[in-house]
Amino acid sequence: MSIVLKDVTYTYMPKTPFERTALHNINLEINSGEFVAIIGHTGSGKSTLVQHLNGLLKPTTGTVTVDEINLHAKKSDAKIARRKVGMVFQYPEHQLFEETIYEDIAFGPRNLGLSEEEVDSRIRRAMNFVGLDFETYAKRSPFHLSGGQMRRVAIAGVIALEPQYLILDEPSAGLDPRGRDEIFGEIIQLYKSSGITVILVSHNMEDVAKMATRLIVMNGGKVLMDGSPQEVFKNPEKLKAAGVDVPPVTALLGKLKDRGLAVDNNVLSVEEAVTTIITALGDKNA
Ligand SMILES: Nc1ncnc2c1ncn2[C@@H]1O[C@H](COP(=O)(O)OP(=O)(O)OP(=O)(O)O)[C@@H](O)[C@H]1O
Ligand SMILES: [Mg+2]
Repeated sequence: MSIVLKDVTYTYMPKTPFERTALHNINLEINSGEFVAIIGHTGSGKSTLVQHLNGLLKPTTGTVTVDEINLHAKKSDAKIARRKVGMVFQYPEHQLFEETIYEDIAFGPRNLGLSEEEVDSRIRRAMNFVGLDFETYAKRSPFHLSGGQMRRVAIAGVIALEPQYLILDEPSAGLDPRGRDEIFGEIIQLYKSSGITVILVSHNMEDVAKMATRLIVMNGGKVLMDGSPQEVFKNPEKLKAAGVDVPPVTALLGKLKDRGLAVDNNVLSVEEAVTTIITALGDKNA
């Protein structure tokens, strides 16, 4: 099972003075079970790319298939395929509109034509996933919540659709560090417990490094790098040229290595960094 992009090019406002090609000949396969992070400088094409994965944008040339169904085929199959892909937009709280959190999350599942019983159980599960206590929050207005909580309601609304592929475009944008950690913690939890495929657009290299099994680096509408976090962060110069910084831990270990300390600069967490530095220092002093 996978999402496959074949020779995808996308041009905004073609044949106008504002014409802008945002994606150039993208070839990608995202396999089910992956946790893919898409990173890149502002304007590199990340949002344009992910909006192709659920059929919101139609490639100017090329094709996008989800589990072998072309998203723009003129069959009912295409509709079913699109439903497999859930999309949480940047600043999704702007799309909250119902009077209660319950009603807001219910909107999507009701549109799928599910029974009220099924809708109810999906709302409970989705709220539980994003850490919103049902009894406390279900009947409250979504507009009186903190930024992080509103973001959670929006994410719950997409999770309640039970997509097989979950796309999140900058889910932590504008949140304070605590809100950001909580949202990412919940996404990891969901990924680990449900087997959902996650495609995450993020600027935060540290979080991306901790979570993703694969990084795709966009630059100028093209895929510049594609590999495990370790592989991608091995090339800080290339990343820098694309306007992306390696995580601070990786940068520090790289500098220590340049200065002759035999650290393992493949590790990504602070804890592992401490261990490899202590080991390297021990070896040096032995
Ligand atoms: N609706 C639009 N009309 C015209 N051009 C657009 C539109 N949306 C995006 N673009 C252009 O397409 C290119 C890619 O934009 P996109 O939003 O995909 O980048 P991004 O990597 O998501 O950036 P950011 O990190 O700022 O969210 C940019 O040059 C942008 O100006
Ligand atoms: Mg964007």
